[in-house]
Amino acid sequence: MMFTTAARWPAVFLLLSALCTLFVPAVTVKHENFKTCDQSGFCKRNRQFADDAAASSWTSPYALDPATITFKNGQLSGTVFKTLKEGEAQVRLPLTVTFLESGVARVTLDEERRLKGDVDLRHGSQARKERYNEAGKWALVGGLKVADGAALSEKAEAGYTKVFYGDAGKHQAVIRHAPFGIEFQRDGETQIKFNDRGLLNMEHWRQKVEPPPKEEEKKEGDEENKDEEKTEEKVEEKKDEGPKGEDESTWWEETFGGNTDSKPRGPEAAALDISFPGYEHVFGIPEHATRLSLKTTRGGDGNYKEPYRLYNADVFEYEMDSPMTLYGAIPFMQAHRKGSTVGVFWLNAAETWVDVVKSKTTANPLALGLKGHTDIQTHWISESGLLDVFVFLGPTPQDLTRQYGELTGYTAMPQSFAIAYHQCRWNYVTDEDVKDVDRKFDKFNIPYDVIWLDIEYTHEKKYFTWDPLTFVNPTKMHKHLDKRERKLVAIIDPHIKNTNDYPVIDELKKKGLAVKNKDGGDYEGWCWPGSSMWIDCFNPAAITWWKGLFKYDSFKGTAPNTFIWNDMNEPSVFNGPETTMPKDNLHHDNWEHRDVHNINGMTFHNATYEAMLERKKGEIRRPFVLTRAFYSGSQRVGAMWTGDNLAEWSHLEASIPMVLNQGISGFPFSGADVGGFFGNPSKELLTRWYQTGIFYPFFRGHAHIDTRRREPYIAGSPYTEIITQALRLRYQLLPAWYTAFHEAATIGAPIIRPNFYIHPEDEKGFAVDDQLYVGSTGLLAKPVTKEGAESVSVYIADDQPYYNYFDYTVYQGAGQHTVPAPLDTIPLLMQGGHVIPRRDRPRRSSGLMKFDPFTLVVVLDKDGNAAGTLYVDDGETFDYQQGAYIHRRFSFDGKRNALTSTNLHPRATVKTDAYLKTMAKVRVEKVIVVGAPKAWKGKSQVVVSEEGAKESARKRQVGFEYYESSGKKAAWAVVRDPKVAIGKGWKIDFS
Ligand code: NOJ
Repeated sequence: MMFTTAARWPAVFLLLSALCTLFVPAVTVKHENFKTCDQSGFCKRNRQFADDAAASSWTSPYALDPATITFKNGQLSGTVFKTLKEGEAQVRLPLTVTFLESGVARVTLDEERRLKGDVDLRHGSQARKERYNEAGKWALVGGLKVADGAALSEKAEAGYTKVFYGDAGKHQAVIRHAPFGIEFQRDGETQIKFNDRGLLNMEHWRQKVEPPPKEEEKKEGDEENKDEEKTEEKVEEKKDEGPKGEDESTWWEETFGGNTDSKPRGPEAAALDISFPGYEHVFGIPEHATRLSLKTTRGGDGNYKEPYRLYNADVFEYEMDSPMTLYGAIPFMQAHRKGSTVGVFWLNAAETWVDVVKSKTTANPLALGLKGHTDIQTHWISESGLLDVFVFLGPTPQDLTRQYGELTGYTAMPQSFAIAYHQCRWNYVTDEDVKDVDRKFDKFNIPYDVIWLDIEYTHEKKYFTWDPLTFVNPTKMHKHLDKRERKLVAIIDPHIKNTNDYPVIDELKKKGLAVKNKDGGDYEGWCWPGSSMWIDCFNPAAITWWKGLFKYDSFKGTAPNTFIWNDMNEPSVFNGPETTMPKDNLHHDNWEHRDVHNINGMTFHNATYEAMLERKKGEIRRPFVLTRAFYSGSQRVGAMWTGDNLAEWSHLEASIPMVLNQGISGFPFSGADVGGFFGNPSKELLTRWYQTGIFYPFFRGHAHIDTRRREPYIAGSPYTEIITQALRLRYQLLPAWYTAFHEAATIGAPIIRPNFYIHPEDEKGFAVDDQLYVGSTGLLAKPVTKEGAESVSVYIADDQPYYNYFDYTVYQGAGQHTVPAPLDTIPLLMQGGHVIPRRDRPRRSSGLMKFDPFTLVVVLDKDGNAAGTLYVDDGETFDYQQGAYIHRRFSFDGKRNALTSTNLHPRATVKTDAYLKTMAKVRVEKVIVVGAPKAWKGKSQVVVSEEGAKESARKRQVGFEYYESSGKKAAWAVVRDPKVAIGKGWKIDFS
């Protein structure tokens, strides 16, 4: 969102509001506000480098000096030399290759001279001299234990150093000395290559060479000759001073959209080519509005011409099917083929571009056995910072998400309300409005858990205040919501209004906690409040101060059921370059904004999370903080959403691959604005969006201030009823969702999963990204994203039976299946082989379901078996970390004809027992068996036994009903009220 002055804002706003009611806004991204690779000096230089390298018999000028190599405690160190022009000193680049116990390898390359501080910065800059080396401090939380077993190969081969590592030494790093490069092998087969194309490029520090002044200038007097600025301007005109073939025009200064970047350290990119031989698909590197399987970026039919860009930005009305940057960045990429998934994590927080190229080798009919194959070549280009790359050799998609999670942390286990439905709009305008919306949800029997307040609740955009005219009694409002266990989320952004009479800005300034401009003064820019300053959460003192602001006696009017939304934290600066901060701004410890940009939003999000933990002494509950900007590691503290989408079918469609991509990239607690942020969705689109949104891990309806109200009860019949049904389905399946969140929180598994993740051997389905599995439940949803659709085509990867969730129609056989999908129908199948936990009693909020009984849906596979898990805890506190949870496995054994519940909790603690007591009365009220065997026909009872039951009750007969199959509909059976406790072991015998 961009406006240039605060004074203009109200006028522009009014005008826009008026216009918007008349017209549908023109919806195209303003390309001119954002750089292309060609407009970003370091990207252009490195792409050119790649083109030059491809066009010539190029040899990379980097060589690892074998005499410098040492290997100790799982780490290889050495020095890579970059050779410049003949006769010039070489650039020394310290190298480490660390082999981690998890089987992951980490490669870093630094620049010795900068490490030693032996460089001069221009313009008297106070910026740090080193390459930024603290990204790990923010992104990494574990997984760094070095492998004891890693060992140098004893077989010496001239020109190479080899290291065996990983499980039983299955992995091997083959390090070539000259030109320097690394091949990573698994079981002797190369999976990933570094610098295979010779594109490694560490732009080393160099002194700017000032040309000798011209004769006439000399005469103009000494004073003028001292004026560095003027001399530099003249140098700019004189191009190609650098090493041959390099374009110096963007080395020293860059101007874009009227903003000039002073670049005190000159050129300093870190770039590398990374190839995946034999792979046809790469996934990851969110956030982009693209398909799951990444397209190539060097032009050609249907391909992109621009690299994928990672530079967190507030992209107004972003476009579909584009490699343009968006609000967040996760530089983690995985390559997948049948039998193997491998990947890289490029740990760098600066602006980064990634080119993807696929090169196909066709089969050679003359050479027997030489099959055609595809290689994927990627080219990673960061503006500054260390070269720091983690290499994952899989071999499964699950290995990758787990190992990446070990490094950057797993999803924070949310409170249970956070995975229910959130109702937001910009804005609910008064506290009475909030209560009114709340009452209407109840009146229409529509479940919801959270209502949200956007920026208008504040007094003149001053965060931590309430507008005294519109939010007269926030405490009462919170109490009202709490009656049905509902919550309120209030927005708090990182820009602090620069105004008189606002203690928050006074303190920020006085304590020196704001981000600084290049000259060391407080940086001032424009955002919602007009003139603003930005808290610098890289500064520990700023975090401490921030925490204080959220205490109940500081942020008055908040309550234990208030939670927080962090927006605009890319950061969005309306008058800044590319709507963000100047790169030469300075953060804590004098790191340039350039170095830390992509991490900036995460530091703010972290600080808010920490603040939420300390609102009141002794009140320790799991925070909920939504963020728009993110980086690797943000998953540890909250949820994200995909920002300002449009109320258009194309945006609904794109949300599925985007959310799937978040899932496999380690940040699965994600969703898109249901209904679309900008514009007014048709009732059909809104309905379809709810039917899709129930499958987003983070499920929130949201709308722009200029849109018409669209709470689910407004649409009217039949839409309201259909939307209510969809919401009820989400609530019914909350136990399954919560269990999926538990998997994300413990093993890093995505919450919604793409086909390739569930069926990694099914080549035909690798690129399928318009349908999704919910956790490990076997629930397969194919949301309708096309206007007027009456059916969808669902892709089935295996030969298991898939049953329609609602009527048990069976679909079987690998391939496409047509599933009916009129407006009131959600295409949802259940893969045979699972037990799905549900809660079937309709309630107004998830909090009211806490002690409701469970239903288990046993979906038999083709051999008559099924299994599934359930995870439950108090949904609120951190007691689960001390064992206060229930974790069960339900399995149906077709041969024994019995369903059993067994304990997955590894070790009961005092807290476990206490929790179990609170849940003692919570029982299974229904067991449905889908695909029930014919042999059960005529049966009317099953035998139930439960651990710890009294002798007399040890074996009970319980009523049972069997329904025969009819047409394509499978047979099913139901056991009503077996009266077994959810937290206990039990058996239901069907024989
Ligand atoms: C931008 C956010 O993306 C949007 O969701 C929000 O409503 C506006 N900022 C106003 O706060």
